[in-house]
Amino acid sequence: MIKLEYFILLLSLHLIVAYADDEVAPEHVPRVVCFYDTLSSLREGPAKLTNALLQIPLINCTHLVYGYVGIRGDNYEVKILNEDFDIKQNQFGNVTSFKSKYPHLKILLSVGGDRDIDEAYPNKYMELLDGGLEKQIQFIESAYALVKKYGFDGLDLAYQFPRSMPANILQRKEQFNDFIEYLARLRFRTNGLLLTLTMLPRVNPKWYIHAIGIDSNLDFVSLGTYDFFTPTQNPHEADYTAPLYHNSTQNREKSMNVDYQVHYWESRPFSHRNLNMGIGIYGNAWATTHKSGATGDPIVQYTNGPAQGDLFSRKDGVVSYSEICNILHQGYGNNYYNSSLAASIVYNQTLDAEHEGFWLTYDNLVTLANKARYARRYIGGVAIFDLGFDDFQGYCNEKKFLILNHIRSYLLHPEQPDPKLDLHQLPRPKPRLSLLTTL
Ligand SMILES: *[C@@H]1O[C@H](CO)[C@@H](O)[C@H](O)[C@H]1NC(C)=O
Ligand SMILES: *[C@@H]1O[C@H](CO)[C@@H](O)[C@H](O)[C@H]1NC(C)=O
Ligand SMILES: *[C@@H]1O[C@H](CO)[C@@H](O)[C@H](O)[C@H]1NC(C)=O
Ligand SMILES: *[C@@H]1O[C@H](CO)[C@@H](O)[C@H](O)[C@H]1NC(C)=O
Ligand SMILES: *[C@@H]1O[C@H](CO)[C@@H](O)[C@H](O)[C@H]1NC(C)=O
Repeated sequence: MIKLEYFILLLSLHLIVAYADDEVAPEHVPRVVCFYDTLSSLREGPAKLTNALLQIPLINCTHLVYGYVGIRGDNYEVKILNEDFDIKQNQFGNVTSFKSKYPHLKILLSVGGDRDIDEAYPNKYMELLDGGLEKQIQFIESAYALVKKYGFDGLDLAYQFPRSMPANILQRKEQFNDFIEYLARLRFRTNGLLLTLTMLPRVNPKWYIHAIGIDSNLDFVSLGTYDFFTPTQNPHEADYTAPLYHNSTQNREKSMNVDYQVHYWESRPFSHRNLNMGIGIYGNAWATTHKSGATGDPIVQYTNGPAQGDLFSRKDGVVSYSEICNILHQGYGNNYYNSSLAASIVYNQTLDAEHEGFWLTYDNLVTLANKARYARRYIGGVAIFDLGFDDFQGYCNEKKFLILNHIRSYLLHPEQPDPKLDLHQLPRPKPRLSLLTTL
């Protein structure tokens, strides 16, 4: 009976959408979805993203996504992952209160996102799908209560799908469709709240997403179009982590680029304006050995996992833009970029067996501009992962949040010429306390 009611509701919604498509659409405003992982607020020294700093870029974000909460494996209610910070220090309330200063901003609470690590219940995200409405209602009611209590504008599911192929693909897709429909119809969309999906990098949408039904129940989907290749996943080979296009002259997996993923969703058919291109705004660095070669041309072999040490942020192999600029300013390696390359690289070669070098790849100002232009032309906007990796102290050129603002600038004005200067050519700021010693 309940199902039938939903079906009727769904049908009427489709009619409204079909009608609206015939009208002249108002000028589409591109989305800038800014992810905020609270881990960046828990660092120390200049690497800490304080609330004062966090507020600076919000004028340039259309959405802020607070990450992350989890799911309880025993009863499927929403689980607070950092009780002290989120609740006792009231970061939930502090962040949603930013809306009084930025009334345009929609703030979502996100579930999952590779942060909900739970050894006792490693399969809970799939068990919740298996459990049907009976178990899902626990999740839905508790998520709704939390979102309402702290004044969020909606819920984002950065759902932890396994990265390996499930046995029952068709069933999984139906289950996830139903789950989204229950969330939308029982609580979120019916109460004017947003409901969005974030695909994690390297999750194959072919295995879990049956986009036809989902489209009408979600406000948007942020694609995990970054980290196709990482030092942790691929310790012995270094390559570009998130090229925009496949290059058929090079021997690479053809799905490991932004364009392929966008086309996959568009062909479902999924409304292209409901898609955001995920952009990982950090570099990735591998440790190299003397066997890795002299040129630095990818694919670089004989690497030795994530680069370590005080050069890099607390996550091995992940390098924030502040640190990238620092490395470039200090001249710690040779910077290469030309237009036939998919990204910039910095290579610190090692010639003897005792020492490790590093190979660092990042989106420079030109490749970021091209990603923003693509997002403007073909889809609904961008999703930035995340604010804590941008240059929020202004180490690159004194301007805080250089990368976010740069992406937004090309999203709004794609016709402007390529940037004249790149990161390594930016005017050097006055010397300050080095990030390297404090991370
Ligand atoms: C939230 O705001 C209150 C009041 O201004 C402050 O005492 C508290 O430290 C803030 N929490 C965080 C995590 O910054
Ligand atoms: C490689 O990096 C180290 C610091 O880790 C630096 O001392 C050295 O000069 C760098 N080598 C090159 C060729 O840039
Ligand atoms: C651009 O990069 C390619 C591949 O590494 C290289 O062969 C070529 O010489 C470079 N071109 C310039 C102008 O540096
Ligand atoms: C593909 O890679 C080759 C060899 O590195 C390069 O010369 C060419 O310009 C690239 N093509 C595109 C479209 O980037
Ligand atoms: C917002 O972004 C624009 C570029 O789109 C930039 O010029 C401006 O400084 C940014 N504002 C803030 C407060 O960062």
